[in-house]
Amino acid sequence: MYTRRRNIYSLSAATPTDRTGHKSALLVMSGTMGNQVAIRTHLTQAPYSVLCDHRAHILISEAGGVSAWTGATTIPVIPANGLYLTLEDILSRVVLSNNIHHCPTKLVSLENTLHGLIIPLDEMRRIVDWAHENGIPVHLDGARVWDAVVATSGRHSLAEHTSMFDSVSLCFSKGLGAPIGSMIVGSKGFIDRARWSIGGGIRQAGVIAAPARVAVDEVFGVDSYGMMGRMRGTHQRVRRIAALWTERGGRVLLPVQTGMVWLHLDAAGIDPSFMREIGGREGVRLSERRLVVHHQISDATIQRLTRVFDVILKKTTPKL
Ligand SMILES: Cc1ncc(COP(=O)(O)O)c(C=O)c1O
Repeated sequence: MYTRRRNIYSLSAATPTDRTGHKSALLVMSGTMGNQVAIRTHLTQAPYSVLCDHRAHILISEAGGVSAWTGATTIPVIPANGLYLTLEDILSRVVLSNNIHHCPTKLVSLENTLHGLIIPLDEMRRIVDWAHENGIPVHLDGARVWDAVVATSGRHSLAEHTSMFDSVSLCFSKGLGAPIGSMIVGSKGFIDRARWSIGGGIRQAGVIAAPARVAVDEVFGVDSYGMMGRMRGTHQRVRRIAALWTERGGRVLLPVQTGMVWLHLDAAGIDPSFMREIGGREGVRLSERRLVVHHQISDATIQRLTRVFDVILKKTTPKL
């Protein structure tokens, strides 16, 4: 069905391993599963600590999975620049000592993008090079790494963003828009061990892999730089949405770099429940301060969102 629909399949002969510069890959159900399986695979002999950004998905939004699955302590690091971790941030918290009271860092986990923010490639390289020199593997939560490639205007390929890591999890849902699925990539030995880490397997993998393939080819793009996919247009829409907000006097909490806009509701004195209510009246379901845009968000939705902005920033009165 897929090949008849668009014949893109034949354009993109690249395998997940070609695209990411790793030897082996494993299909999993979700981003959380990808991170947890990868981290479990890295950590085999306690004691250990995992060092990550204090806002990292693995720390905040994976139900304490790192400690539950591995028994590791997680060390949250606050980036001094307020945006992304640097090697200096890592050095300020990493535990290298042999002191039996301490918990040695046996894994660094980075996230790119994190809250829609990009870690510059050079900084990731500095961190990874230092970690490897010190015998510490580095995992990348790359659920949204596609966005980083696209947003940096194809200067560096997906493989350049991913091949330096010992393991990477990438999501096919979220920005790419597939209904389900993520993958872990790494060396053959790593992926072989990951397959066994929590047991089980997927017999119906094709049903998940086919829409994932469409999502990668059409939304990220058939080239390795994300130049030919729809995600580029999504990022333009995100900038448009951010401009609609700021032109009306709103402020953003974080720079708009990829697929998210963080609304500074406090600065505008807006209660999130009020925003949700007005959104509901316009048929736009809003959660908190974070707007995440994907390639199916239409102009009509943006018009509705503009009306929500008008009301909550008090440019017009609400519809009853
Ligand atoms: C950076 C990041 N990692 C992991 C996940 C988890 O993915 P899932 O919801 O598929 O478990 C998310 C979800 O939004 C995410 O943004």
